[in-house]
Amino acid sequence: MPLLAQGIRHLPGHLDRVAQEALVEDIRAIVEAAPLYVPTMPKSGKPMSVRMTNCGSLGWVTDREGGYRYQARHPVTGAPWPSIPERLMALWREVADYPNPPEACLVNFYSDSARMGLHQDRDEKDFSAPVVSVSLGDDCLFRVGGTKRSDPTLSVRLSSGDVVVLGGEGRLAFHGVDRIYPETSTLLKKGGRINLTLRRVTLPLFSSPRRGEGGRKAAG
Ligand code: SIN
Ligand code: MN
Repeated sequence: MPLLAQGIRHLPGHLDRVAQEALVEDIRAIVEAAPLYVPTMPKSGKPMSVRMTNCGSLGWVTDREGGYRYQARHPVTGAPWPSIPERLMALWREVADYPNPPEACLVNFYSDSARMGLHQDRDEKDFSAPVVSVSLGDDCLFRVGGTKRSDPTLSVRLSSGDVVVLGGEGRLAFHGVDRIYPETSTLLKKGGRINLTLRRVTLPLFSSPRRGEGGRKAAG
């Protein structure tokens, strides 16, 4: 994606088929413990077309009364979210270039007609951490622009196994999903697309030195 803001990286086919299948099994277990539900928009209460759940110590939720936020429990069952699978923690360590672990993984399920309007991910406290996104199942048309809603956008087709990192100057880029391309993948038996986004939500209490910034040089 050469024309995208610095810090937005598209890693096509980053996960091979075996890794994708293993991840689908992880997600199956998560959805069993924390069922997909229909989120609603703040104020209007309008249902979103994607279904959602989360894993991690925090999960991103939205509803008419409370708006966009992170919370530690599933809004329907009241149970704590299941933990983030180790293979996603490993992916974060591999691509995030950020010294602390993610706290939330939003799981979005797109049926053939689902989409997601252009938005920024800005409910987190630490924008120095990227958002790491994984696509599984059917292809989609992903749109990404700049930090203003009116900035020009670029459309990219994302396929199963692709990873996108929204970091650096691209961390607050507007993005969305314009459409799903049904029957373009055999990964999910019943079709559709799963998107996973790993997020750091809170500011770390103690931040470890970033790579290449490993300690102060002795004075004098
Ligand atoms: C999101 O912005 O939460 C999802 C993006 C995607 O589905 O690729
Ligand atoms: Mn987003």
